[in-house]
Amino acid sequence: MIASRRRLLAAGLALPFAADSIAQSCARTLNQTEGPFFKTDSPRRVSLIESGSKAPRLVVTGTVLSAQCKPVPNALLDFWHSDEQGEYDNRGFRYRGHQHADAQGRFRLETIVPAEYPGRTRHIHVKVQAPGRRILTTQLYFPGDPANRRDGLYRAELEMKKAKADEASFESCAHGAGRKMSRKAAQKMFSVKDLEDQTHGVICRKDKGVLDEIPGAYKPIDEVMENQADLVEIVHTLKQVICVKG
Ligand SMILES: [Fe+2]
Repeated sequence: MIASRRRLLAAGLALPFAADSIAQSCARTLNQTEGPFFKTDSPRRVSLIESGSKAPRLVVTGTVLSAQCKPVPNALLDFWHSDEQGEYDNRGFRYRGHQHADAQGRFRLETIVPAEYPGRTRHIHVKVQAPGRRILTTQLYFPGDPANRRDGLYRAELEMKKAKADEASFESCAHGAGRKMSRKAAQKMFSVKDLEDQTHGVICRKDKGVLDEIPGAYKPIDEVMENQADLVEIVHTLKQVICVKG
């Protein structure tokens, strides 16, 4: 009944990070108050992402383990957290959902990074229950959040571990933006005028010889980042000012 193998993949921007060591500690997970916003009967779902939300995405993975460090199959996990404004949905079920761990005790939740609210650092509430056993109620915290130090409920033992990337993707992410079309197609489709328009404010070549590298021939960077939101955390957004190719 212990969610001790916690990994956190925060999303948004572009630095791939490498997986932290996933030390399996079988120390009993601390109980914490459920707070005033728990609601029963949350929907069964593994993704809490609301369509249209611009909040940074988050994937939380973990394994429910017994006090003997054995995986607990089919444990029930009920998650709830505040929205991007730091508000809980007390009328409906936004950012609330339950799921069952798989036969190896593993779970995976897709959601957004919740906002802090007065008096509290960023956190995710969860209730965990092995079949037929007592419920463990606790909260998960974000590593390195400056507000952790100001929150009396925060406990370092309940911090999630931030992973740099996913094992299945070789701890890496896409290197390039990815073309939308071939170089030949770009040369046919775009003119030098298009190139000048699309590279306005950027110091670079703007002649026929580089038409195949026009920005319009590539996917928008936001789309590229969105596609790999579970692999990377956006920590800076850069604006191109010069392009020099040797
Ligand atoms: Fe809360």
